[in-house]
Amino acid sequence: SCTYGTLSTGQKMPLVGLGTWKSAPGEVKQAVLSALDSGYRHIDCAAAYGNEQEVGEALRERVGPGKPIKREHVFVTSKLWNTKHHPDDVEPACRKSLADLGLPFLDLYLMHWPMAFERGKVAMPRNADGTLRYADTDYRDTWRAMEKLMDQGLVRAIGLANFNARQTNDILGISKHKPVVNQVECHPHLTQKELLTHCRARGIMLTAYSPLGSPDRPWASPEEPRLLDDPQIVALARRYGKTPAQVIIRWQVQRGVVCIPKSTTPSRIKENIQVFDFTLSEEDVKLIESFNRNERLIVPTIEKDGQTIWRDGG
Ligand code: A2P
Repeated sequence: SCTYGTLSTGQKMPLVGLGTWKSAPGEVKQAVLSALDSGYRHIDCAAAYGNEQEVGEALRERVGPGKPIKREHVFVTSKLWNTKHHPDDVEPACRKSLADLGLPFLDLYLMHWPMAFERGKVAMPRNADGTLRYADTDYRDTWRAMEKLMDQGLVRAIGLANFNARQTNDILGISKHKPVVNQVECHPHLTQKELLTHCRARGIMLTAYSPLGSPDRPWASPEEPRLLDDPQIVALARRYGKTPAQVIIRWQVQRGVVCIPKSTTPSRIKENIQVFDFTLSEEDVKLIESFNRNERLIVPTIEKDGQTIWRDGG
């Protein structure tokens, strides 16, 4: 039930994976078990999500020697957090994710954001006035440290997340091992057409996060319309006899974008990978493309009345 994209390393990356951001400890193990049992072979993780140990419990039950699924048959991604950009911190951070996930290697390790935070144990280091404490580590130096992880066999590929075209070019300009993926927010209201074209021309696959518009993002207001209720998406779904989520995921798959919908609900986890038994017409792929509003839902911090009311990862 999986269809794959091919990375510039030659690795096969399942086009649909399970997202784990916002998946609560206490729920995420069951979600990963459900996903693996429903045919998912791609799990998207990050140290910053605070749940890698529990994701690891599920992987330990299903993957590896003596278990139903071979390690080689699952694609696991993790991400280097912003406080770990200093070159001396990169390998320990990677080893921590490996230990939590219980894996000998990662298929893909991403730089989570292009900016560095102050080093240390505090995930979101802040000044007294609430503003974040950044560090001046150049992301090229972080990248060179990530390249060593490949040389050591800790990771099979490295990539980027939340990088724009210029920042991506900065990495391409110095890299020995090219970034294989750029993971960014992407959905019918933020189609990322230009970045997709830019990355594709350079052999970089795009992965779409918040593909369903993240209705569970902590700052979503209950009144605001949800992407999954967009009348045009709902109409398309009816026409194909599919759900809005399936239409959106299928659209990404058809434009060659990897998609990592998050769910902790077994029925939705199943629903979200049942997208390989129908095809959207070329016109409908273009139609969904036309819904773009450049509407970005995820930014690193959300400030309201001078207060930080949301911080990614913490
Ligand atoms: P839940 O985890 O309670 O099942 P995104 O991947 O864009 O971040 O969106 C995740 C959100 O979308 C979660 O709130 C999740 O709910 C919900 N969701 C995931 N799959 C579906 C689906 N097929 N139909 C409706 N809502 C879904």
